[in-house]
Amino acid sequence: MTIADRVAVRLRVNGEDVAVMVPPYKTLLEVLREDLGLTGTKHGCELGECSTCGVLVDGRPFLSCLAMPLDLEGREIITVEGMANGSEPHPLQVAFAELGAAQCGYCTPAMLLTARALLDRNPQPTRDAIKEALSGVLCRCTGYLKIFEAVELAASRQKRRG
Ligand code: FES
Ligand code: FES
Repeated sequence: MTIADRVAVRLRVNGEDVAVMVPPYKTLLEVLREDLGLTGTKHGCELGECSTCGVLVDGRPFLSCLAMPLDLEGREIITVEGMANGSEPHPLQVAFAELGAAQCGYCTPAMLLTARALLDRNPQPTRDAIKEALSGVLCRCTGYLKIFEAVELAASRQKRRG
């Protein structure tokens, strides 16, 4: 492949502007992992069915396996690498770790980001609201119970902090 087969894409990822030269058919998932080294976002079905590849775009869950980077110029993309505040992990990350809400961890980045989008729009969700929000993210390992409990724990800590 020559440079002529590539296009320039400017993205805003985890609060930073980045520019990459990529083949126009590369998905956002591939660009994040292969060109930007952000391997927290995982390959799953690549068919839009498992949500393992989930990131946030303008604060909403978004399937990176179905997205073309050129369509996302100017949008705010957050991956799991952007969840922490400097060296301080996001309360959801702390709660997931404390409660053992991950086993193999493959779905965990998408679970964390989807839960973050939920708490950002509904800081005190019911168990049913958590279940519904996370229902599209398929986990092959856990029974989901610890995941739901971790989201509730993070929400209660955020509430206490005001
Ligand atoms: S990898 Fe994107 S939905 Fe499954
Ligand atoms: S923890 Fe293994 S797929 Fe969810």
